[in-house]
Amino acid sequence: MIILTGASGGIGKDILPLLTRLDDVVALYNSKAPKISDKKISWHNVNLSSEEEVKNFCTTLKETSQRITLIHGAALSIDGIAAQFSIDSWDAVMDVNLRGNFLLTRELLLKMIEQKWGRVIHLSSVAGLRGAPGTIAYSAAKTGLLGMSRVLSREYARFGITSNVIALGYFSTGLIETLDEKNRKKILEEIPSKELGNPTNIVDAIEFLMKSEYTNGSVINIDGGI
Ligand SMILES: NC(=O)c1ccc[n+]([C@@H]2O[C@H](COP(=O)([O-])OP(=O)(O)OC[C@H]3O[C@@H](n4cnc5c(N)ncnc54)[C@H](OP(=O)(O)O)[C@@H]3O)[C@@H](O)[C@H]2O)c1
Repeated sequence: MIILTGASGGIGKDILPLLTRLDDVVALYNSKAPKISDKKISWHNVNLSSEEEVKNFCTTLKETSQRITLIHGAALSIDGIAAQFSIDSWDAVMDVNLRGNFLLTRELLLKMIEQKWGRVIHLSSVAGLRGAPGTIAYSAAKTGLLGMSRVLSREYARFGITSNVIALGYFSTGLIETLDEKNRKKILEEIPSKELGNPTNIVDAIEFLMKSEYTNGSVINIDGGI
């Protein structure tokens, strides 16, 4: 089974139908489940900032005997330059993007160890590789995913579990919708392919990572050449 966090987000909703071709999908959302119904998709409401909610969700999966591919897609971005960024905003971003990722991974690792198979895939960003001005906490958290993934890859490889990062460039949906026309234009100009990414680009990489037992601790850039 694929467990996808952020399934209700722009990218989540777009990749969902493609993911169902690879496996059943347990789709996690925070505020409102989109009206997407498919017998291969089951929706669950889990606030990743809450350790209790994460634990409760994982107990519902207790009896599963299926292999787990965990895709961390949930993210929160709050804009603001470093000198004026509030600690509350910092904590809120870290709670979802790093702590939430850790909480869910930690709960599912034992199950993956039992299965002697597991795939952990973190959706990071070009912002986490080079830093995007105005996103101090988001960029820091996205860089943090690289460290987290590398530790997981080294601790659990011997149990058939891999952990990799997909570092996304700019896509035609989701977070990009918060940008104004001028900033969108600027972004397009710096993409060598001059095109925003599409959901197939992401799912191709996910499928590869699901199949590959020897790709571990890697960062795959899906960014049109940025
Ligand atoms: N779009 C892009 O161009 C782009 C570029 C680079 C990287 N990425 C990465 O791709 C992933 C998806 O991005 P997106 O553009 O689809 O973002 P998005 O549209 O803003 O969606 C964010 C998702 O995270 C969920 N979420 C937020 N807070 C949560 C919480 N406390 N608990 C559980 N879930 C929570 C949201 O759930 P609700 O909607 O239910 O609240 C939503 O499903 C992110 O990791 C992002 O960093 C995207």
